[in-house]
Amino acid sequence: MKASGRDVRPVAVLAPATCAKKDSHSVRRPPSHVVLGAEKGKNRPVTKNRVSARLSAIAESATLAVDAKAKALKAAGRPVIGFGAGEPDFPTPDYIVEAAIRAASDPVNHRYSPAAGLPVLREAISAKTKRDAGYDVPASQILVTNGGKQAVYQAFAAVVDEGDEVILPAPYWTTYPEAIALAGGVPVEVFAGPQQDYIPTVEQLEAARTERTKALLLCSPSNPTGAVWSPEQLEAVGNWALEHGVWVITDEIYEHLVYDDTPTGAILNLVPELADTTIVLNGVAKTFAMTGWRVGWMMGPSDVIKAATNLQSHLTSNVCNVAQRAAVAAVTGDLDAVDGMRRAFDRRRLIMVDMLSQIDGFSVPVPKGAFYAYPSVAGVLGKTIRGRTPQTSSELADLILDEVEVAVVPGEAFGPSGYLRLSYALSDDDLIEGVSRIQKLIAEAE
Ligand SMILES: Cc1ncc(COP(=O)(O)O)c(C=O)c1O
Repeated sequence: MKASGRDVRPVAVLAPATCAKKDSHSVRRPPSHVVLGAEKGKNRPVTKNRVSARLSAIAESATLAVDAKAKALKAAGRPVIGFGAGEPDFPTPDYIVEAAIRAASDPVNHRYSPAAGLPVLREAISAKTKRDAGYDVPASQILVTNGGKQAVYQAFAAVVDEGDEVILPAPYWTTYPEAIALAGGVPVEVFAGPQQDYIPTVEQLEAARTERTKALLLCSPSNPTGAVWSPEQLEAVGNWALEHGVWVITDEIYEHLVYDDTPTGAILNLVPELADTTIVLNGVAKTFAMTGWRVGWMMGPSDVIKAATNLQSHLTSNVCNVAQRAAVAAVTGDLDAVDGMRRAFDRRRLIMVDMLSQIDGFSVPVPKGAFYAYPSVAGVLGKTIRGRTPQTSSELADLILDEVEVAVVPGEAFGPSGYLRLSYALSDDDLIEGVSRIQKLIAEAE
């Protein structure tokens, strides 16, 4: 390898700082000036591609980044209002927390447990699926994961080979393209705008299908748009996938957050023949206000679940037993607490949509599910506000944060520019204050 015109042999270079002398008790103590990764001077081994291409290509989660920025400003005493986080503001219901407290003091939960999940939880998820979605999944075809995110990654890893294409309706949740690419796949975006409620037609999906198409990602109710697919739309897309042998990976994590009695359904109920080529993703985070507990699951054909379990057995092993016991309480309990939260989200949804639609240049389809509004802000871009002229939704989001201390996630995190995502899972007072600030700021546009 050449560096500065000289041959450098990385293996032969040892940073002197690591050769600490033994002290009088023969205990090796690291010298206090060593900082991991800080040796950028002449002794640092010169290697190319220090970080692998696969990981270098991953962008930080934009939603977590916006949330972290808002929390940091808040911690510094700024009156920031954050619409970035995708999490309920409610505490986890008491009966779930109490189950976890009991579990933490039982030594049976202090040990490794089966990588695929506690049998009692897999059985409970099977029963819950029958209760809520109406179809049968044997416990053996359920894999409990560290949050829905691990299920997302493992689902792609289980069916995608290098170069396989995955059709991804856009706007999409920011993690999907990264998880597809990490698995070696190629995300193929199919954009559907607000005039079609952010739901693509079968014709649009078909236009994106090639010889390499392996799977389609479905997310209903949708993060980031709040769109909810109708039974007819699900059935049409399910039949298309079946006809062309396309796997369906369906993320149903917002299943209980549907408003206005919007008709919808589970694709497996509508097209049962898909059972052999469908993976269902779900978890307790959004439904039970359990984002921090990290329990999700994937369900699918035996061979896929077996393969994903093998992967997980090397990657993370079992999910924390205490969190799994809490999840048992969540999925076996009734849905009263969930219903209370859903009603609060519904009220906030209507307030938010009403306030956002009063902003000149914003256009907001009414979200039917999840807890996000996704206005198009195209009518504001190119206008001047306080001396700045945002041309993209990313620039507009920066302007809003800088000028009125309100954090929103720009459309660039979910596909094309020109949109903002605002979560309405925050208190009514904060919601009204935050959107009022945006209203006043955008009113200055000229
Ligand atoms: C659509 C969707 N799927 C899956 C997840 C993953 O949830 P978690 O990993 O917190 O269980 C999220 C979280 O934001 C999501 O919005």
